[in-house]
Amino acid sequence: MRKVVVPVAGLGTRFWPATAVLPKEMLPLVDRPAIEYTVDEALRAGLDDLLFITSRAKRAIEDHFDVPPDIERLATEKGIALTARPEARFHFVRQNRPLGLGHAVGLAEAHVGGEPFAVMLPDDVLLGPPDCMTAMVRLAERTGRAVVAVRRVEPAQVSAYGVIRPTGELERGVYEVGDLVEKPSPDRAPSNLAIVGRYVLPADTFRLLRETAPAVAGEIQLTDALRALNRQRPMLAYHFPGRVFDTGSKLGFLQATVELAMEHPQLGAEFAAYLARRVEAAAPAYRA
Ligand code: UTP
Repeated sequence: MRKVVVPVAGLGTRFWPATAVLPKEMLPLVDRPAIEYTVDEALRAGLDDLLFITSRAKRAIEDHFDVPPDIERLATEKGIALTARPEARFHFVRQNRPLGLGHAVGLAEAHVGGEPFAVMLPDDVLLGPPDCMTAMVRLAERTGRAVVAVRRVEPAQVSAYGVIRPTGELERGVYEVGDLVEKPSPDRAPSNLAIVGRYVLPADTFRLLRETAPAVAGEIQLTDALRALNRQRPMLAYHFPGRVFDTGSKLGFLQATVELAMEHPQLGAEFAAYLARRVEAAAPAYRA
């Protein structure tokens, strides 16, 4: 498996006005645009053919990975690790109306063809070990099954996520999926295993997406097609044990920033010392 679909055509309204013009995927997590974390996770998993589902407002992403040789030379002279990924092939398809994540993934059909493929939602920044996408690709290749990533969330939080109904554990941290439920109320949730934006899917998904009726808001939901897929060929859920940050939300973005800053090779120690002083100074207010 070489191909991964990366949908980035959403409007990013939760970050307006910051993302009215700038793609949220280009907001820096310390010193790298957020999108780079997803691209590098894909490349580490051997997914070197990347198809971005993009839109008019996201041109900067395309430009970011198109590094001209003179800039590359200059950066090398300055000792800066560059954004070029020479081993990767980047492709771009426009979704000219935001008709939903399912619609966006469906636009990949001509490029992906009849092969299994991965989908990665770059809002979810995943920090291992282990490497989530690498583990999922291996699991899919070993079992021949579709795989979705999940993580445990607080039971009160389930209504913000898609949640799976596990029917058994195939092996440690790998669940058989009975069903997928979009944003259940806490009292009706079949588990607290929330879906993370990482998938390995069969080419059949495209036919199911075409057959999926738009939901209330007129959007085609990926989860609806995955439910249909699961009825035909039950999927596996890989429980990712690392850290997950929803950088599409302001709080998740700030949390990822703090974690990555603390681990930064040059800034980490100084930033962590600052943070410790700052938290200590603020603590009485939070204890009250
Ligand atoms: P979200 O539901 O988070 O929407 O999309 P969004 O527009 O990105 O952000 P908010 O909610 O307005 O702040 C989940 C993923 O699906 C993609 C998004 O780019 C994101 O990766 N998406 C969503 C599309 O590519 N097209 C769509 O029509 C909708």
